[in-house]
Amino acid sequence: MKALEGVKILDFTHVQSGPTCTQLLAWFGADVIKVERPGVGDATRNQLVDVPGADSLYFTMLNHNKRSIELNSKDETGKEVLTRLVEECDVLVENFAPGALDRMGFSWERIQEINPKMIMASIKGFGPGKYQDCKVYENVAQCAGGSASTTGFLDGPPLVTGAQIGDSGTGLNLCLGIVTALFQREKSGKGQKVTTAMQDGVLNLSRVKLRDQQRLEKGPLNEYSQFGEGIEFGEATPRAGNDSGGGQPGRILKCKGWESDPNAYTYFIIQAAVWQKVCDLIGKPEWKTQEGYAKPPERLDKLNHIFEMIEEWTKTKTKFEVMDLCNPLDIPVGPILSMKEISEDKALFATGTMVRVDHPERGEYLSVGCPIKLSDSSVEVERSPLLGEHTVEILSDVLGYTDDELDRIIDSGAVGKVSRDGAE
Ligand code: COA
Repeated sequence: MKALEGVKILDFTHVQSGPTCTQLLAWFGADVIKVERPGVGDATRNQLVDVPGADSLYFTMLNHNKRSIELNSKDETGKEVLTRLVEECDVLVENFAPGALDRMGFSWERIQEINPKMIMASIKGFGPGKYQDCKVYENVAQCAGGSASTTGFLDGPPLVTGAQIGDSGTGLNLCLGIVTALFQREKSGKGQKVTTAMQDGVLNLSRVKLRDQQRLEKGPLNEYSQFGEGIEFGEATPRAGNDSGGGQPGRILKCKGWESDPNAYTYFIIQAAVWQKVCDLIGKPEWKTQEGYAKPPERLDKLNHIFEMIEEWTKTKTKFEVMDLCNPLDIPVGPILSMKEISEDKALFATGTMVRVDHPERGEYLSVGCPIKLSDSSVEVERSPLLGEHTVEILSDVLGYTDDELDRIIDSGAVGKVSRDGAE
């Protein structure tokens, strides 16, 4: 038995943010029915194509364990089928541009009329206000949510991060909103609307930078490298390079091989509790008692020098040797792992965090499995559906259409070109 077994999801999501959410729901056992435009489908099926004629990795890696139905939701027969899906499902998830669902004739009011128990979950770029009607992609959210202005180096431009905090991050928020609404429905018997904005999701992840914005009003941020370099602070939280965002100073330092390997680096944190061990390890035992070095506040204006000295030591070791030497001493360090190294990490495969998936069009590929582990609800990652692969199955098994009705719907063209055996 799976945690969300029996829960039916009408998955009207596309691209990345929404699909991340419904993929998690599918992994937790929900029946996720992905509704796609006939003949076209989710735009990502054809984006960043590496195997001509096959669904892209962009699509396959975000749509595991789902079923696909082709349905023109702007066609009269299509609307009839969509109405049946709203009646039958527990949750509708969508991340269309603002107003798209209303334009289709499926406003929140209409959905409540059709199914008062329905939970309608949406991702938009911005919440209500000046920008509510904007279309938004990942990097727009990273910029508008405060992340870009605080990422990068002081002397460089704002930077976006590779982690998809706007899309996948907001998908996670929506997923939590949905299961919370399902939990409340158990008691209230009613559905509700769950909304998440990508700007809000990014800001939530940038919380510590808003903390620093307020601290800045009281004086310089003395744990930032900038403080040690004697550079004045401006009005806004500055970009802090690789400085740790917490109370324990940290930096990215070069390791053996850095001259030729772009990822021969380690993150190194000088937690106060293990300072003495750090001093011994790097051959600076005198710092343990020396005035200006012995106590954390005294070190703040010398952090650059201290990290330079630590780097002299890390440069003599590989990033994995640094890990092996520091871990037994409780010194927090982390190797900078490349995607190549991660994709070869047996331990991640053993836990299901990395998976190999077979696909009829593209063969075997790697994907990220479920990052949340439930002891009583296991996850088996199954390949993403081909476009319209389950159209007939969903119409007959989920919606209960008779053979005659099925013929009428197929003949109308609302569900694309299908044969009774499945997608053509
Ligand atoms: N049948 C018929 N029409 C369909 C359909 C179906 N099954 N599925 C979608 N459509 C229509 C929509 O109704 C819409 O029509 P309309 O413009 O006439 O109302 C149209 O397809 C395009 O939808 P839209 O959402 O505007 O797609 P887009 O490619 O232009 O924009 C985004 C993409 C991501 C920018 C936009 O959807 C968006 O801002 N979403 C919210 C924020 C978000 O999630 N962004 C991150 C994505 S990773």
